[in-house]
This record gives sequence, structure tokens and C-alpha cells, in this order.
Amino acid sequence: MSINIAIDGPAGAGKSTVARRAAEKLGFVYVDTGAMYRAIALYLIRQGVKPEEKEVIAGRCAGADVSITYQNGEQVVSLNGENVNGLIRTDEVTRMSSAASAVPEVRARLLDLQRGLAAKNNVLMDGRDIGTCILPDAQVKIFLTASTAVRAKRRYDELAAKGDAAETLESVEAKIMKRDEDDRNREISPLREAPDAVHLDTSDMNIEEAVEAVLSICREKGCIG
Ligand code: DC
Repeated sequence: MSINIAIDGPAGAGKSTVARRAAEKLGFVYVDTGAMYRAIALYLIRQGVKPEEKEVIAGRCAGADVSITYQNGEQVVSLNGENVNGLIRTDEVTRMSSAASAVPEVRARLLDLQRGLAAKNNVLMDGRDIGTCILPDAQVKIFLTASTAVRAKRRYDELAAKGDAAETLESVEAKIMKRDEDDRNREISPLREAPDAVHLDTSDMNIEEAVEAVLSICREKGCIG
């Protein structure tokens, strides 16, 4: 049987960086489920759909065929056969992915893909509903979070490092709060901490410390040596 580790948490908590590094150290497959929602979002944007058009999203998402492969350990997300890794981190895609992820038809399209990867491989999967909905029997569940202010500052520093000075810390924080609120309050698979998840607040940790904390939770749960 494969070992499944679920890491959920809000936007900007450093989940993907921490999860990717922890997976590497464990020799597990890292599955970034947010990237799958982002690929569907890109498809919808290309179709000219708007984030508020929930019914159109429900009808059109069937045309988005998302698949995952791995190249040199990196997850490659393909949309109808096209590698879209470099196209899914824009603000527009972020907004659309949050809106589309509240549509049941979109979630249903990704369920089998996510469960299939977890059935065949030892995975460390990150997202919003992995411990609560996708992998309820995961051997380890972690809810990784940090204060809103810390998450906003991390995101702001990331943008500044990329030379993107257009945003203020306040506007970054406002966007993070809006996305949290939308992800937490949607009807289907809202962002929730599973009752059996370990709560990991990384506000006062750097990346290495957070990775070590994840590995030590996995050790305590007895699923790694
Ligand atoms: O983790 P991310 O920022 O790449 O995710 C983009 C959006 O996708 C996020 O706003 C919520 C949604 N999402 C989700 O609903 N369920 C998941 N398992 C992963 C992401």
C-alpha cells in the first residue's frame, strides 16, 4: 500500500515550497493540486469565460483535460497535451482558479486524477481539501498555516525579488484575505482543518525549519524511518 501525506492550508503559507522539499527528502512524489485548478482556470480564460460565470464554468470545464507527468522530479501540468507550467502563476489565473474551484463540476474532474496518483505512489499532496475530502485515510495530515501578516509579507518579498514592485504590502494582504475568505466559505470542499490533522503554524519558522517540522510529524506518525 502506498503512503499518503496530506498537507492543506491557506494561500501563501509556504505550503508548496515546504511540501516540495519535504517530498524530495522523503523520496515521495510531490503533487501540487493547486496547479491542476490553475490549468483548468487557464483553459476557461482562453475560452473567454469570466470568474463570476459559474454555470458557464460548470458547462465548459469538461473540455479541459488535465494530466500530470514528472520530469527530473518536477511536476509538469499539461492542459490538453500542452505543458502549461509557465503560464499558470499570473494574477488572472489565480483569481479564476479560486472561482472555478468552488464549482462542483470542476472539483469532480480532478478527483480521480488526484486519488489515482495517491493510490499508485507514495505521495505528499498539497491543497485545500486533501485531508478532508480527497485522501481521508492519509497516514499523515498536516494543516500548514501562518498569520495573515506573515503570509502577506512572504508573498510581497517574493514579488519584490521578481522585480514586481507594482503592489503594496497592503494590497497583497487584501488579496490574500479575499482568497482565504472565498476558499473557506465556498459550499463544496471548503478549506477546513481535518479533525485528525496536525496544526503547524510556520509564522516564526524559516523554510528549513518548516520542512524539518513536517518530517518530524511524519516520523512521529511512524510512516517514515
Ligand atoms: O494552492 P494554489 O494557490 O495554487 O491554488 C489555487 C486555487 O485552487 C486556490 O484559490 C483554491 C483552489 N484549490 C482548491 O480549491 N483545492 C485544492 N486542493 C487546491 C487548490
